[in-house]
Amino acid sequence: MSWFDADPAALEAPARYAGLDLLATAVLIVGADGAVAYANQAAEQLFDLSRRSLVGHRAARLFAEEGEVEQMLAEACANNLGLRRQLLSVRRPHREPLPVQAVASALYADDTPLALELAEIEQQLKVTREEHQLDQTEANRQLLRSLAHEIKNPLGGIRGAAQLLEGELASAEQREYTRVIIGEADRLQSLVDRLLAPHRHPRVVGPVNIHEVCERVRAVILAEFPRGLAVRRDYDASVPDVHGDREQLIQALLNVVRNAAQALDARIAAGDAEIVLRTRVARQVTIARHRHRLALALHVIDNGPGIPEELKERIFYPLVSGREGGSGLGLTLAQTFIQQNDGAIEVDSRPGRTEFRILIPYT
Ligand SMILES: Nc1ncnc2c1ncn2[C@@H]1O[C@H](COP(=O)(O)OP(=O)(O)O)[C@@H](O)[C@H]1O
Ligand SMILES: [Mg+2]
Repeated sequence: MSWFDADPAALEAPARYAGLDLLATAVLIVGADGAVAYANQAAEQLFDLSRRSLVGHRAARLFAEEGEVEQMLAEACANNLGLRRQLLSVRRPHREPLPVQAVASALYADDTPLALELAEIEQQLKVTREEHQLDQTEANRQLLRSLAHEIKNPLGGIRGAAQLLEGELASAEQREYTRVIIGEADRLQSLVDRLLAPHRHPRVVGPVNIHEVCERVRAVILAEFPRGLAVRRDYDASVPDVHGDREQLIQALLNVVRNAAQALDARIAAGDAEIVLRTRVARQVTIARHRHRLALALHVIDNGPGIPEELKERIFYPLVSGREGGSGLGLTLAQTFIQQNDGAIEVDSRPGRTEFRILIPYT
């Protein structure tokens, strides 16, 4: 059953609203009877319906919040609406409702009392989500840094005391216990050091040839995984140097590529594991609230099993690992290093194809 019952009598658009076609914002003019009296071209696109279908259609039924739109109309008819902003969801046949920012205004005209301006907020929502994530990441990082410091201080004491105790102990059997304490203290120490690492070394910034970075990483990985893994180069030779810290970029890329290689163990055993290193110039990218005209896009694509569903949202968080014996720091560090070079790292993963995308802006 169609959810439209257009009234053919209302097809002619009033000429006085024709100027609305010049707007990029969708506009519906609603008649006193609640039917759409006029829809501009942007509205046709937003609703994915022709003007013929829109005009005469009951305006409220175009939205999930039918009652609220009826309410606006009633208020507009009674001349006490003024102007109101509100989030509405546009109903679309066979598709998810589309969230829009609506501005309802009273036209103070008896036949057409209400105008609805509708702007898509999908883009806006995405930006808000990204901003939220950015704040979250920074908060996590600070928490982690303080925590690492708190652990680090007593750790030295524990290790020293265990060493003194070891000297006092007579039997080798007893010394086995102090060995465990010292060994575990050392392990924690190195974990904590890695948590604090990105804030330790002074950065060295200059022009970096990204293909040199890729080649370095490729050589290291092929040495670690000498059999069954192909690391294919898909370089755009015209990609300019980026401005950044070479060592940081190598470490970041290495962490990403090593993860890919580790995820590929089954395919390595089968002999058809592949990682692709792809470089391109990307246009008009938004990184951390700033728009850049040009950026380097470095893709790392593997044909492994994909990131486990339950980890997907959290893989960049510290200590999140899906691997036996993993520290969960590789991607946290990679992200920190990339961000320190004004860049961003994103991921897109499904079984059989995982793609990490590193973006470094040029300007
Ligand atoms: N290319 C990939 N394919 C599948 N899973 C991945 C990939 N890259 C990362 N992961 C998942 O993300 C987790 C976090 O990675 P990382 O931060 O480097 O920590 P670690 O490698 O120590 O576990 C990994 O344990 C793994 O489960
Ligand atoms: Mg890792």
